[in-house]
Amino acid sequence: MMDKQELSAAIRTLCSEKNAVIMAHYYQRPEIQDVADFIGDSLALAQQAAKTTADIIVMCGVHFMAETAKILCPDRKVLLPDPTAGCSLADSCRAEDLKAWKEAHPDYQVVSYVNTSAAVKALTDVVVTSSNALKIVNRMPEDAKILFGPDQNLGRYINQLTGRKMELWNGACHVHSRFSPEALMEMKKQYPEAKVLAHPECKQIILNLSDIIGSTQALLSYVKAHPEEKTFIIATESGILHEMQKACPDVTLLPVPPETTEGVGCHCNECEYMRQNTLEKLYACLKDETPEVIVDAAIAQAAVKPIQRMLDWSK
Ligand code: 13P
Ligand code: SF4
Repeated sequence: MMDKQELSAAIRTLCSEKNAVIMAHYYQRPEIQDVADFIGDSLALAQQAAKTTADIIVMCGVHFMAETAKILCPDRKVLLPDPTAGCSLADSCRAEDLKAWKEAHPDYQVVSYVNTSAAVKALTDVVVTSSNALKIVNRMPEDAKILFGPDQNLGRYINQLTGRKMELWNGACHVHSRFSPEALMEMKKQYPEAKVLAHPECKQIILNLSDIIGSTQALLSYVKAHPEEKTFIIATESGILHEMQKACPDVTLLPVPPETTEGVGCHCNECEYMRQNTLEKLYACLKDETPEVIVDAAIAQAAVKPIQRMLDWSK
């Protein structure tokens, strides 16, 4: 049995031997973020995958992130340490249901959040992430009729910013939609000087109580860019606190707790899917080069277009 330090060293050795690159989302366990070659939000991970020269990409994130990397790099091996790491938001939108929605709205274009399966992306006109959704929707013709899914919170927020009237899919991230407004109001009273930083996947009531709304990368950038501010209240998955604290060791970061019914459900703001990847699974997957993520060729051929459009429109 290797300890964490030995595992991390063995992982780095395997990366050099195999010309492999480890990409990790900010919501990964701290020890995975620390061993990765690259950490980023969903957009940065897709951009990085599109330009890597590595033979093997190990995507430390959830399944749709690995699928996106595979679609962009069909000739590379893409590994996901735990292939069952899914996403409740992506699961809320099945391709057959999106197809029916499109059929009921024949003159609409489909804008899909990156948190979707490859099969859903294959039915999409342009993909967005929380970093670029505003820019991309603004780039579409003003009279475009748009179906937006699956995150209704992000969609409603973009509608508010743009004045559009996109039709919204009824999905949400179970982590971002369970923050407690009562707890946040208490925290604001206790720390009146603290800015509230929230992800747009949060509910309206949380966004109304926030000062800065943005993707994980945008929230991290805000903390780094404001050394004069020393306390932040954070309404997103708590994995981001690791990189924020590393970048700004002297700030106090206060995570907003979720709503809970005494003794029932999860009492933390961690995404259990993101946490499925562990150092042990990462080591095993690099050593054995499995589990590999494979995307059906016809689906990949259709899905690459809206992903590439997103990358082009994000420049
Ligand atoms: P971003 O990476 O765009 O901030 O999205 C957060 C998220 O929920 C990823 O699953
Ligand atoms: Fe999906 Fe939410 Fe987890 Fe992100 S945090 S992977 S949106 S369930």
